[in-house]
Amino acid sequence: MIIKNANVLNAEGVLERKHIQIENGTISAILNGNETIAEGSETIDAAGKLLVPGLIDMHVHLREPGFEHKETIETGSRSAAKGGYTTIASMPNTMPVTDSPEVVKLVQDKARAAGLVKVLPYAAITKSQQGQELTDFAALKEAGAIGFTDDGVGVQTAQMMKDAMSIAASMDMPVIAHCEDNSLVVGAPVAEGSFARKHGLKGIPNESEAIHVGRDILLAEATGVHYHVCHVSTEQSVRLIRQAKEIGIRVTAEVCPHHLLLSEEDIPGLDANWKMNPPLRSRRDVDACIEALLDGTIDIIVTDHAPHSAEEKAKGMQAAPFGIVGFETAFPLMYTKFVAAGKMDLALLVKRMTADPARVFRLNTGVLEPGAPADVTLIDLETEKEVDPETFASKGRNTPFTGWKLKGWPVLTITDGRVVWSEELEENRKNEAEQQA
Ligand code: DOR
Ligand code: ZN
Repeated sequence: MIIKNANVLNAEGVLERKHIQIENGTISAILNGNETIAEGSETIDAAGKLLVPGLIDMHVHLREPGFEHKETIETGSRSAAKGGYTTIASMPNTMPVTDSPEVVKLVQDKARAAGLVKVLPYAAITKSQQGQELTDFAALKEAGAIGFTDDGVGVQTAQMMKDAMSIAASMDMPVIAHCEDNSLVVGAPVAEGSFARKHGLKGIPNESEAIHVGRDILLAEATGVHYHVCHVSTEQSVRLIRQAKEIGIRVTAEVCPHHLLLSEEDIPGLDANWKMNPPLRSRRDVDACIEALLDGTIDIIVTDHAPHSAEEKAKGMQAAPFGIVGFETAFPLMYTKFVAAGKMDLALLVKRMTADPARVFRLNTGVLEPGAPADVTLIDLETEKEVDPETFASKGRNTPFTGWKLKGWPVLTITDGRVVWSEELEENRKNEAEQQA
């Protein structure tokens, strides 16, 4: 396969016209745009489109097994592919929890059957994510888990976290932490602040996140583990991570688009599509997260794609579950609101969504070079479209970004040399499904 005339970022972050040659699922050559090329069996003309390594999302909820009404591995994979992703890492808060080799294998099998993106499963730190008893890390690693996390809840005791980190360190595996101290959070649906006060709701304080970040950094120092902080949302967490990096502790961190774009002041009312955990915080917190992403204190952008059904989200701000979908809006949001707005270089945005996650989690993808897997995404930086949840490939429609006018929409996604998402492919798939029905 040949992708010709694509705009590719060079090492200096400047766009150059290139032809990408793909053979047997691998990038075999990258040719200058002025070279004449022998057309391959399949040629895609990418003129005017940006070509980037397939995006990587290291924090996603696919809901299968157990919550297939919210999402399945197939629908989640398709949503990821539509959003330009070729590699995603799935969280273990399924039912049963991904705390055994059997569930790890089930996730891998379903992902392989879907055949759209690479799904890397995380396994739980504690059995059923109850915080009481460690899982069998060796067996889970052997089954293919890429790291350990109880995402969805915090590990409440320091001793449990220290034990987890010691074992993970001994087998060179990362610990990925949802940072939340339950003794400081009692049933609050939103952050402490003006929104909570105005609506008479309890508020989640910043310390509930940052206390775990600080505790875990000390434990990472003591154990030598690679410690990765999930969805950073507070100024205090940023400060602690920055200091830890300065003194050489092995800590990395991620942030979600919504924590870079929205503060609690933006929440329009009691619509639970604005409810996620961690919650939208103050403008100061948003600014601290942006600064940290720009200076490298925060290494990567993730979505925390967390689909829920419309019925669940209709229960209102207090009772609805936490979480918003993310795959299909992440790149357009970041491109439009940061790159096109002049606040971030395109090359840095792409790096934080490709090469940086690959570096942090030692993945053999995320770069465009001969020999690398042919995981690539074509993006249209010109066409403006409104976010319309009805068009999502995800089963989830829960987003606060409905109606936002954005540019930077992925138009074609290739995993291991195979087109896994394009509008044409999607039309054909829908027609076939209709004919079968
Ligand atoms: O908003 C969230 N949704 N935060 C979490 O920690 C869990 C996730 C989910 O599973 O829905
Ligand atoms: Zn989480």
